[in-house]
Amino acid sequence: MAKKLSRFDFQEMKDKGVQCAWVTAYDYPTASFAEAAGMDMILVGDSMGMIVFGYDGTVPVTMEQCIMLTKAARAGAPNTWLIGDMPFMSYHTSVSQAIENAGRFIKEAGADCIKLEGGVRVADKIRGIVDAGIVVMGHVGLTPQSSAALGGFKAQGRDVTGARAVINDAIAVYEAGAFSMLVEGVPEEVTSFLAKKLPIPIYGIGAGLCDGQVQVVGDLLGMFTTFTPKFGKKYANLEEIETNAFKNYIADVKAQKYPADEHKYHIFKGEEEALKKLLEEYK
Ligand code: KIV
Repeated sequence: MAKKLSRFDFQEMKDKGVQCAWVTAYDYPTASFAEAAGMDMILVGDSMGMIVFGYDGTVPVTMEQCIMLTKAARAGAPNTWLIGDMPFMSYHTSVSQAIENAGRFIKEAGADCIKLEGGVRVADKIRGIVDAGIVVMGHVGLTPQSSAALGGFKAQGRDVTGARAVINDAIAVYEAGAFSMLVEGVPEEVTSFLAKKLPIPIYGIGAGLCDGQVQVVGDLLGMFTTFTPKFGKKYANLEEIETNAFKNYIADVKAQKYPADEHKYHIFKGEEEALKKLLEEYK
């Protein structure tokens, strides 16, 4: 079994120019397959709102949902760095609310660190959580929890004013003590600058090449069909595989081809005559 990576390994990977590959997972089997494949880290993202619960965004996701699914992913991937994702309004009202909820991911769900969205405006929350001894990953650029404020799920920093805002957010997250940062939906020119300027690992989704990449598992495995972002790359088509499997199962049941003999139990050898008599009694 490979050694479980720590925050210092991720720093070393950046320092040595080794790319970090990670993915979201929200359940036991997916997390265990990701671990078996050698994924560097796993995020139990609040994208569960769309992928698991069928919401049209991440805003309705609750702490209870995140804790429950983070626990499930931890059970599937006991040996992989696991990131708990703080949902909307679980860290916004005060530093103490942020610390308490971050602590729940570590104590109750077994996460190794937490991720939260925002830059300058949440720097005090990041600092508070870090001071409580909890490892924090930042998330800047397109921050889906504030998509209404951003005017939708739009790439950020594509003009100079926007780029300045993303850079200032990233610097604030770094200075507040985050060990790494996710940059989402930002031009590669800005992300690669951040990856060079800031000493901590800068990971991207829809942000071009930097220190590593994450994908949402629904996009990667082709099982989320409502919407495919420009940056989603499909490595499998689970929608097709699952639908075909369900169709074949339905056809087998209707034709009584399932269950076949290998799927059935039979009475123990030597019990046949006694069973026959028993069934006679009930006729
Ligand atoms: O919740 C999530 O899945 C995310 C992605 C942008 C990786 O934060």
